[in-house]
Amino acid sequence: MATTQVSVSPEVLKASQHSERSPDPCIVVIFGASGDLTKRKLLPALFHLEQAGNLPPNFAVVGVARRPLEQSFAPDMKEGIEAGGGVDAGDPKLDPFVSRISYYSMNFDDTNGYDGLKQHLAQIDQQQGTRGNRLFYFATAPEYFSDIIRFLGDHGMNRPQPEKDGPAPWVRVIIEKPFGHDLESARALNDEVNKVFNEDQVFRIDHYLGKETVQNILVFRFANGIFENVWNRNYIDHIEITAAESIGIEGRGPFYEKAGALRDVVQNHVMQLLSFVAMEPPISFAAQAVRSEKLKVFRAIRPIHFADTVRGQYGPGVVDGKPVPGYREEDRVHPRSQTETFAALRLEIENWRWAGVPIYIRAGKRMAKRVTEITIQFKQPPLMLFKDTEGKYLEGMKSNVISMRIQPDEGIALRFEAKVPGPSMHLSPVDMDFCYSSAFGVSSANGYERLLLDAMLGDGTLFAHRDDVEATWALMTPVLEYWAKNPVKDFPNYAAGTWGPSAADALMEMDNRKWRKL
Ligand code: BG6
Repeated sequence: MATTQVSVSPEVLKASQHSERSPDPCIVVIFGASGDLTKRKLLPALFHLEQAGNLPPNFAVVGVARRPLEQSFAPDMKEGIEAGGGVDAGDPKLDPFVSRISYYSMNFDDTNGYDGLKQHLAQIDQQQGTRGNRLFYFATAPEYFSDIIRFLGDHGMNRPQPEKDGPAPWVRVIIEKPFGHDLESARALNDEVNKVFNEDQVFRIDHYLGKETVQNILVFRFANGIFENVWNRNYIDHIEITAAESIGIEGRGPFYEKAGALRDVVQNHVMQLLSFVAMEPPISFAAQAVRSEKLKVFRAIRPIHFADTVRGQYGPGVVDGKPVPGYREEDRVHPRSQTETFAALRLEIENWRWAGVPIYIRAGKRMAKRVTEITIQFKQPPLMLFKDTEGKYLEGMKSNVISMRIQPDEGIALRFEAKVPGPSMHLSPVDMDFCYSSAFGVSSANGYERLLLDAMLGDGTLFAHRDDVEATWALMTPVLEYWAKNPVKDFPNYAAGTWGPSAADALMEMDNRKWRKL
């Protein structure tokens, strides 16, 4: 394996951690702060921003949830920052940061709670100079989204409350996925949101867009003259996107029973990956420009044929050498559940760049390993030259592949054919490999850092617009409805720790193709 050597000076690396723009003083208010996401991801991400000098000095975090956690919340978040963020307990910035975390307990459907919260925030403004700027983060279960939006509106918390002499403050909301559970509910939620907030106040988060490897897709494609020329149906045979997880549903039975793989990962994360791989070059990285190119991709995808869909559910099996139960045996899962833990699709984008290039997608839980990867498989060149004495093609001939390793082992490899040294003509595929960790060192970013910072700066480039969300639901909803009407008889149809049901292989074999071994 050939490895690319990239030398980046420590100064450049350090500079790239620091944002050129600095957010205004503000309060990040997290609804649903007692959940896992806050402790494991959001607070570590905010602290990493602080470490890199990207937070304003006048900054505060307020956790909001039902339980009375006033005493334990900040110490608990400190623990999360140390464990989830790999932060040393002795970091000199840690205690001052934790001292700016507070907690407010209320029921999301209690109007009085919002009065109290408003006062709590106003007090912080006075004490900490946060100037009325608010970033509300919706990390609750999705059934509370509507209530919170409505009550924020009713209490005038959706509109900035101007201070006497200062600049006009801002209010923004970050809304976590799932954003609706089908087209109709997503539209309804969008309508509710937009009744209270202007679209430029709304940041629909998909944490995949915060991943460096995902943003790098655009740099790889558009900052390198050699790839864009071959990035089309003249040269590309097909595209594969795999989002495989080895974990199961991690105690989230009630959530996952209603979600399933298509809603949980494909409609959002995988479709976002696809839009970056397939879109036309935007005229700039401004939100409007990027979003409109993404939307064109979603709208050019042909309605999905049911024969081009596969669903799976894991049964008992072995993962990382340990026996694990099947999905139907998981806590709070129906023993005859029809929820899919694996989904595969064949898509086609009917535009001038992509018509005729099949796109195969698969995503699942309890698969053989954790790997998210995009494979660009190029067409086979003419092979006339490479025949043996009997006229058979030489073994080992494979077409070129660009594989983008989104995670783990982040990197990009280009596979090409090479002559095996020796007097006879033997070929072997070899890889040119770019690996993030050896080129740039290991990054501790979890995706949320960049997205939180962008939201504080008011930059929506890496967030989903309402049109995006509706366009992807428009594609997935008929599939979900068809699946709901046609229950599966063979669930569970793959053993935990494998690559999914055999029907997923058959989906590729129909086209004389195979999933790339990962
Ligand atoms: C979340 C899903 O959005 O993404 C989870 O709800 C999934 O089920 C997770 O495990 C995967 O994220 P990552 O960053 O670990 O690939």
